[in-house]
Amino acid sequence: MPIIINNEDKTYTLLTKNTMYQMKVDVCGVLEHTYYGPVMEYMDMHYGVECDMGPCFSPNPADGPDGVWAYSYNGINQEMSCAGIGDFRLTAMGVRNADGSFGAEPRFVSAKTEKGKYSLSGLPAFYGDKAETLVVTLKDKVHDVYFHLYYAVFEEYDLITRSIVVENKTDKSIKLEKAMTLTLDLPLGTYDMVYFHGRHTRERMLERTRIRHSQVSVASMRGASSHMENPFVIVCDKNANEEYGAAWGIGLVYSGNFLISAEKNLQEKTRVIAGINPENFNFEIEPNGEFACPEVAMVYSNEGFGKMSNSFHKAIRNNLCRGKYKNAQRPVLINNWEGTYFDFNADKLVAMAHEAKKMGVELFVMDDGWFGKRDNDCCALGDWVPNEEKLQGTLSQLAKRINDEGMKFGIWFEPECISEDSNLYRAHPDYAFAMPNRAPQVSRNQYVLDFSRKEVVDNIYNQMVKVLDGANISYVKWDFNRHITDLYSVALPAEKQGEVYHRYMLGLYDLLERITSRYPDILFESCSGGGGRFDMGMLYYMPQVWTSDNSDAIDRLKIQYGTSFAYPVSTMGSHVSVCPNHQNARVTPLQTRGNVAYFGTYGLELDVTKMTDEEKAEISRQIKEFKSYYDLIQHGDYYRLISPFTPDESLYCAWETVRPDGSEALVCAVRYETDANTAAEYVKVKGLCKDKLYRINGSEKTYLGAALMNIGLFLKYDFFSYPSRLYHITLA
Ligand code: DGJ
Repeated sequence: MPIIINNEDKTYTLLTKNTMYQMKVDVCGVLEHTYYGPVMEYMDMHYGVECDMGPCFSPNPADGPDGVWAYSYNGINQEMSCAGIGDFRLTAMGVRNADGSFGAEPRFVSAKTEKGKYSLSGLPAFYGDKAETLVVTLKDKVHDVYFHLYYAVFEEYDLITRSIVVENKTDKSIKLEKAMTLTLDLPLGTYDMVYFHGRHTRERMLERTRIRHSQVSVASMRGASSHMENPFVIVCDKNANEEYGAAWGIGLVYSGNFLISAEKNLQEKTRVIAGINPENFNFEIEPNGEFACPEVAMVYSNEGFGKMSNSFHKAIRNNLCRGKYKNAQRPVLINNWEGTYFDFNADKLVAMAHEAKKMGVELFVMDDGWFGKRDNDCCALGDWVPNEEKLQGTLSQLAKRINDEGMKFGIWFEPECISEDSNLYRAHPDYAFAMPNRAPQVSRNQYVLDFSRKEVVDNIYNQMVKVLDGANISYVKWDFNRHITDLYSVALPAEKQGEVYHRYMLGLYDLLERITSRYPDILFESCSGGGGRFDMGMLYYMPQVWTSDNSDAIDRLKIQYGTSFAYPVSTMGSHVSVCPNHQNARVTPLQTRGNVAYFGTYGLELDVTKMTDEEKAEISRQIKEFKSYYDLIQHGDYYRLISPFTPDESLYCAWETVRPDGSEALVCAVRYETDANTAAEYVKVKGLCKDKLYRINGSEKTYLGAALMNIGLFLKYDFFSYPSRLYHITLA
């Protein structure tokens, strides 16, 4: 029974295999949050949030319990914190009532369970028949404004998701001025926040900071989740690490503006909120209308980050990603971007495909530059018409030429953007975001289309359908190469302009839903200047993401390691590219480039016609090796072994994938510093059976699982720059 409704105690308890989450209706009918931590026998946990220190200078509700001066909205642990009613902490919801007053006092109405997982109209969300849903309905004390709190429990993965649907049953419109999904009040303690910041070509760099009395926030106001912050954080015990300590992973299933914020209050209680960034946000709800807040996904682990990541990986793979490819073997692809940039024609592409096929590559992807007059990034976005001069025929003919080489064919789109120099812009300049009387800002010579308007989305949909119906296309890379400025929709009145960011996301999700469901056999890869929109929202539509425009194997260690805290390797687009590397000029061994790319989708991004025979042979070997490990890498349990973020502790980065029964593992260790005369290093392997004997890379010598996990695996040093090794561990 993953959900317990106890009407006597007025508690609502969610249970996963290892975790427990509880709420309780208090004397005033307020829904308090009482517990989120390790699973235990059912009990009313309210004692754990009682506090004999009053939240001074905090008013008491008019109908609060007599004489309990400490009872204040500012002091109690609330399941959904509301602004404007005396809670001075971080608040999640803000309601502007029809009379202009700002605030709501949600009180309990009802609770019920539902079989299966709730869904959210127009928004991405985890799904699954095996999940169970709890719906708790609260209502403002004064107005007929209802808050339906949705929770879903995925027992097996220790995953709990939540959302809020606000319903206006008054006879006048109200405005949501804040619609943040998560309020999470933690047990008293000292916590850190781990988060993943970055920039273009340096995405998801790990940082950790103490949560004190000032707010700690990660946020985006770029109209995309962005390279700069990721909508995923870990709040953890101050001593938590990969294996020990309490860790709450919190991810938003949303790809637009977001805010995740935490602080301690005057009673030393820590609160976390997460949801749509309230800056430049408000949303009108008409009488009988509803607003759904984006979903938040949470995993609690009392065994540190490793276990938490594993739960997210499984849940994302099985219950967020959809479609034919979510668990299927993905084709090994070659993308022409770094090989040619805009400088190609069909003959050149076919020559590349011909060589790549000989090495075992299965899919050829034609990147940017195939449409309109796009020989550089100054024009043609919005005109999704093949350039038949460059393609030396129709798109269908090119696809056939690639198919005739024995390869599948894929194509690049940037559906959300428009160039000023395009037929679409000349015909419909109002399709691009621009503020009245203000020249819009260009970024990479392009503007963003107003996807809050259905006719704009429809126009792009129809163009994409024409292309995708017109040729044998097996793969689409969906790119987005600038962030949103000049936000203004000519289709909405002045008082509704605060809705545009979110309406843009709804338009984008609608287009994604229509395109991905119309073409169930196409493999979709998300991209935004590399990994600028690597989030759970996008993964609902596209099962893999181009992790970064930085394809250097050594920089990729940090990028892929940071990404792995939330996202599984099956979602990480990773390619072998040329050296010196185009992003940082580093020269690394081809073998190391391959080893790093194995822990992702593995593909190529270089001009294979320029490779030496030796290099081609190495790529052929890699493709065979990658395929032989495919199942282990993609479906094994992933562990981070040595962090690339701690160079003072080790010169290596190492990670591992292991079968859940401990029967086989693959460790990848890459030396990212080239210091002389360094000490020997061992890496402690995880997930093996302690009593069983193992061989390493088929060695004669056998090693006890317990020894490999406690003493470690000796990392053999190879005397050249940036060496790497794979250690295949099998039962003896
Ligand atoms: C940015 C992407 O990240 C690259 O891989 C490439 O597709 C370019 N855009 C093309 O403009």
